[in-house]
Amino acid sequence: MSISEVLKSVPFFDHFTDTQIDDLVHMGRPLKTEADQVLFQMGDLADSLYVILNGCVRVYGKDPEGKPVELSTLRKGQFFGELALVDGGTRSATVRTGEPCEFFVIERSNFMRLLSASPELLSDVLAGITSKIKSSNEKIFLEMLEKQRLQSQMEIDRHRSLSEMVAGVAHEINTPLGIVNVTASMITENLTPDLLARATDPELKYVLEDIQEAAQLMLSNIARANKLIQSFKSVSVNQIMDTLETGLFVQLIQEVIDLFKIKARQAHLSLETEFEPGVELLAWTGYPGYLSQILMNFFSNIERYAYPAGVGGRILVKLSSFERDNKPFFRLVVQDFGKGIPKEDVSRVFDVFFTTGRGQGGTGLGMSIVHNLVTSALHGSITLDSELGQGTTVTVEFPHQITPQEHLAG
Ligand SMILES: Nc1ncnc2c1ncn2[C@@H]1O[C@H](COP(=O)(O)OP(=O)(O)OP(=O)(O)O)[C@@H](O)[C@H]1O
Ligand SMILES: [Mg+2]
Repeated sequence: MSISEVLKSVPFFDHFTDTQIDDLVHMGRPLKTEADQVLFQMGDLADSLYVILNGCVRVYGKDPEGKPVELSTLRKGQFFGELALVDGGTRSATVRTGEPCEFFVIERSNFMRLLSASPELLSDVLAGITSKIKSSNEKIFLEMLEKQRLQSQMEIDRHRSLSEMVAGVAHEINTPLGIVNVTASMITENLTPDLLARATDPELKYVLEDIQEAAQLMLSNIARANKLIQSFKSVSVNQIMDTLETGLFVQLIQEVIDLFKIKARQAHLSLETEFEPGVELLAWTGYPGYLSQILMNFFSNIERYAYPAGVGGRILVKLSSFERDNKPFFRLVVQDFGKGIPKEDVSRVFDVFFTTGRGQGGTGLGMSIVHNLVTSALHGSITLDSELGQGTTVTVEFPHQITPQEHLAG
């Protein structure tokens, strides 16, 4: 195939007349390269347009984080380098040959001369360029979306498997702990005051009394361990059960708020609500028990960490509705204006056992349970924003309707 025939088959030159194609042939030069050669780099000064006569090339761009992204593979009959050719600026991508290639190269000055001779040609060239820019931007955008989706899925999986592990370990410890409990009870039951009174040897009496005291101590500590184990178990959503119900969502929130009111008054917390107009008419098919557990966790954290030592302050609960993927969703926001969370801790708040309140009875399970409830049971997502000294905002988004099948699949 002659060069002019190849050029005629290139869509970019569709509207070129035969004479213009002949002009092009005289303006350009052939170029042969080996495989794996960089033809130009992003940022290089652009000086020519390449038409592929044989072989293939790969075009690389950068995503917003600066990582290389392969944008496309171009083959025989396709062209590249046209973008910077028109603006005379620098290359917006890097091009590397995928195999030994033959090109037809047209210098910028020659190409511009041809364009200035024909306004129709100019508008065709611009239209072609615009559609190419659009499709490569779309590709970058789609790849970024996919990457974000994968990352959040990985995050959810990580939380879930950690919680399963904690719940599993708790379950395993239950049996030996139960045995210790039974044996310690046996000791205290057998060492009755009556029996102790009958011990005539004073030394024996002391020993028996010591054993009795030790067994009591064991029992009270087993009870403590048991309580902890129950909360470790509740970290896993599989271990807690709630029934699916349908009700007005605002009403459900109001019930939880009313439940918290007495505590709030004691802690000098003022609870304000901001419901988007119309949202009070919307029903939710979900798990009211989980919802109240989630909200209670937020409120008790605010009481304990945002406004510590009973200083009190504002809590704002906002509710609105929006669409995601053609499905109606609720957005529930719980905001405080208190202490805030240091930057380095924000990403750890949802981790199992992360707490800054170990001395005050915090186990660091609250937010991790909430995370699992929201992502698994409510089929939603949760984010936390916080600024030290400004306060913390937790946003939970989930569909108006959860089907039990979806819950099982999660
Ligand atoms: N509203 C808030 N303001 C400031 N810090 C917060 C807030 N909510 C959570 N935190 C921080 O996140 C940590 C983890 O919270 P999480 O509810 O998981 O655990 P906890 O409250 O410490 O313990 P638990 O909930 O098991 O009793 C807290 O220890 C606290 O440092
Ligand atoms: Mg908590």
